Amino acid sequence: MPEEIAQRRTFAIISHPDAGKTTMTEKLLLHGKAIQVAGTVKGRKNTKHATSDWMEMEKQRGISVTTSVMQFPYHDCTVNLLDTPGHEDFSEDTYRTLTAVDSALMMIDAAKGVEARTIKLLDVCRLRTTPILTFINKLDRDTRDPIELLDEVEDVLKIKCAPVTWPIGMGKYFKGVYHLLNDEIILYEGGHGHERHDYRRIKGLDSAESREAIGSETVDEIIDEIELVQGASHEFDLDMFLKGELTPVYFGTAMGNFGIDHFLDDFVKIAPPPQPRETEDRMVQAGEQTMTGFVFKIQANMDPQHRDRIAFMRICSGQYTKSLKMRHVRLKRDIQIANALTFMAGDRQHLEEAWAGDIIGLHNHGNIQIGDTFTVGEDLKFKGIPNFAPELFKRIRLRDPLKNKALQKGLIELSEEGATQVFRPLNSNELIVGAVGVLQFDVVAHRLKAEYKAEAIYEGVNVATARWVECDDPKKFEEFKKKCFDNLALDGADNLAYIAPTRVNLSLTEERWPEVRFFATREH
Ligand code: G4P
Repeated sequence: MPEEIAQRRTFAIISHPDAGKTTMTEKLLLHGKAIQVAGTVKGRKNTKHATSDWMEMEKQRGISVTTSVMQFPYHDCTVNLLDTPGHEDFSEDTYRTLTAVDSALMMIDAAKGVEARTIKLLDVCRLRTTPILTFINKLDRDTRDPIELLDEVEDVLKIKCAPVTWPIGMGKYFKGVYHLLNDEIILYEGGHGHERHDYRRIKGLDSAESREAIGSETVDEIIDEIELVQGASHEFDLDMFLKGELTPVYFGTAMGNFGIDHFLDDFVKIAPPPQPRETEDRMVQAGEQTMTGFVFKIQANMDPQHRDRIAFMRICSGQYTKSLKMRHVRLKRDIQIANALTFMAGDRQHLEEAWAGDIIGLHNHGNIQIGDTFTVGEDLKFKGIPNFAPELFKRIRLRDPLKNKALQKGLIELSEEGATQVFRPLNSNELIVGAVGVLQFDVVAHRLKAEYKAEAIYEGVNVATARWVECDDPKKFEEFKKKCFDNLALDGADNLAYIAPTRVNLSLTEERWPEVRFFATREH
């Protein structure tokens, strides 16, 4: 593997809303020197705001979310941090983003422990056995017993915990952490939440210096506690971590900017470099000479000044250089992209080169879809970038019927982006919008109005669920299409789907047509 690739670390933060993901992101950027002072990341807490605010915030958000990808150097490594939307109504986007990372950082609120969304997200990481690191946050507050928290992670998330740091006190009495692997105490000091700071480090837990610094009694307590912890938990094991079976655990406070630097020091050492990725035909190794990549996200109108759409591509192997001629496999066409973007946190820059593990932005003029593979010559198709069958449906209608073209265009573009799914029934001119989470509807209406000047309203529609359909027997398929014509629709990418008015109807149809396959997810 070329050194440039071996030094890439591409990861995302997963957490339940409010556990501190935004705060952590900001502090990571601070330590990566991508920002100089923390407090500049805007647009946190989108869950607590009304939808319209949310959209405005989406536009105003500084680096945190609009750019979606933040790259910064740390020691010898180049770190790519991929942002994921916090709100569960945008979980599809999150799932797809997780297909583009090589590891994930799980944030847990020390007062709350494992929460609902953490469980779901970890399940998604498991689909690809992504290695997980854990940061238990908010130690500056009263927390639950740390041993109990580790037990909960092990029981609920079914992953072994290897504490790497251990907290000394909590809340008002939070004194710092003991680094078990380095046998080192790192002392917490308040007041450095917004700047890089070298916290005092003391070598050796049982040392004169530590006794002087935190008191002999506390040291004795910690020694006992560590003994207990070591008996009850697991030792860090790199192999098990890389297999996703064990997670190294760190304690700290993102708000207090404590625990971040030693986490990052370890992260760049143990987190895996770009991993092999599966295509329909073969595994692609990151170190292969020629470039390959796949698109996992499309975002429209990132920059309100230039109404553009950016496709985010994860480079899976080789190197991208400016003006590289790439093969757009789905379209079977070679294209030359001179103005790909990189996302050094903060602003976008035109890019000269990028390596496996990096995310680059391609301007999309309508011919790139989520899931598209790009190569240099070879016809490959990367696997595992899912679209989930929506659970919620509404008919969408225009206030001004003359805007129909704009509405269609908007819906198709927003569905390419994964913001919603659109279904066009074969038997009518209706447009049905499908969503996985209810907030998606509001965002789509808002964006149709703001970005496409199409003011639309929703109406109820008698659809309970949808399944994408395929059949190997063309004759049977024709028969099925004829019989079920009134329940068939095309999605945004012209794939055929069965729209079921009830779950019972779906089961009955599945039974009646055993030759037809019904898919709850569609691979892009
Ligand atoms: P999220 O992206 O995971 O949703 O969480 P976010 O970082 O927005 O943090 C949620 C809340 O938790 C914020 O408080 C944030 O300041 C707070 N927080 C994050 N890390 C820590 C920590 O280490 N200690 C403490 N005590 N709080 C922490 P908020 O009141 O909702 O927002 P704000 O008023 O601070 O902006």
